[in-house]
Amino acid sequence: MNRRSFLKAAAIVGGTLAVREVGGMALKKAVSGKKTVLAIDGGMAGGTSDYALSVVGETLREEGVDFEVIHIGEAVLRGCTACRTCRREERACVLATEEEIRWIEAMKRANAVVLAAPTCFGGIPGTMKSFLDKAFFANSKHFKGKTGAAVVTTPRTGASMTFEGLNQYFTICEMPVASSTYWNNVRGLTVDDLKNDAEGIRTMQNLGRNIAKLIKN
Ligand SMILES: Cc1cc2nc3c(=O)[nH]c(=O)nc-3n(C[C@H](O)[C@H](O)[C@H](O)COP(=O)(O)O)c2cc1C
Repeated sequence: MNRRSFLKAAAIVGGTLAVREVGGMALKKAVSGKKTVLAIDGGMAGGTSDYALSVVGETLREEGVDFEVIHIGEAVLRGCTACRTCRREERACVLATEEEIRWIEAMKRANAVVLAAPTCFGGIPGTMKSFLDKAFFANSKHFKGKTGAAVVTTPRTGASMTFEGLNQYFTICEMPVASSTYWNNVRGLTVDDLKNDAEGIRTMQNLGRNIAKLIKN
């Protein structure tokens, strides 16, 4: 971004510099040292994982932390083919779309990254996995030291495998993982079901508090 387009995109709001990226994605960058958490949601806006994230986000905001969600469930993208061009030439993934590159840049700027997903055949939904494989293979060194946390929604079974699958991305690149008082799952097929899972909701609130603690330290 050149200086002119940066100035056009930036606005000072109450001591906070809000930078709106080309493509509509906003990430509040704190001049005052305010911490930011970015969630990548493998589901859809308004879906179950979005709801679970909203609970985490509410707690984070109460803790004075900025929180933003990018929903990628409907994106059209390719998986990693292990061409290794990113490693050989130290460059962005040749298969990543411009949109994916913007998501990765937002992840690099955040203090913590939350990966959220509804369960698909006992694992991570395909679109999410395609994105994460490319993002983490090409950028692990940029994520080192950031806090990571996984959030899963499940109507029936497969939550632990999905949770485990998401945590694999953090634990291969030296990201400390924020945990909660149960494995981070909220149960239900619909958002209304999720609202009735009191323990799941408490788990998300505790997760939000623990992410805040980790990034503030
Ligand atoms: C292809 C596919 C696979 C699924 N696999 C599972 C599964 O393994 N376990 C489960 O509990 N639910 C499974 N489901 C149900 C989804 O997790 C459920 O539809 C989820 O609530 C998605 O809703 P959302 O889009 O509102 O987040 C599956 C759904 C689809 C479409």
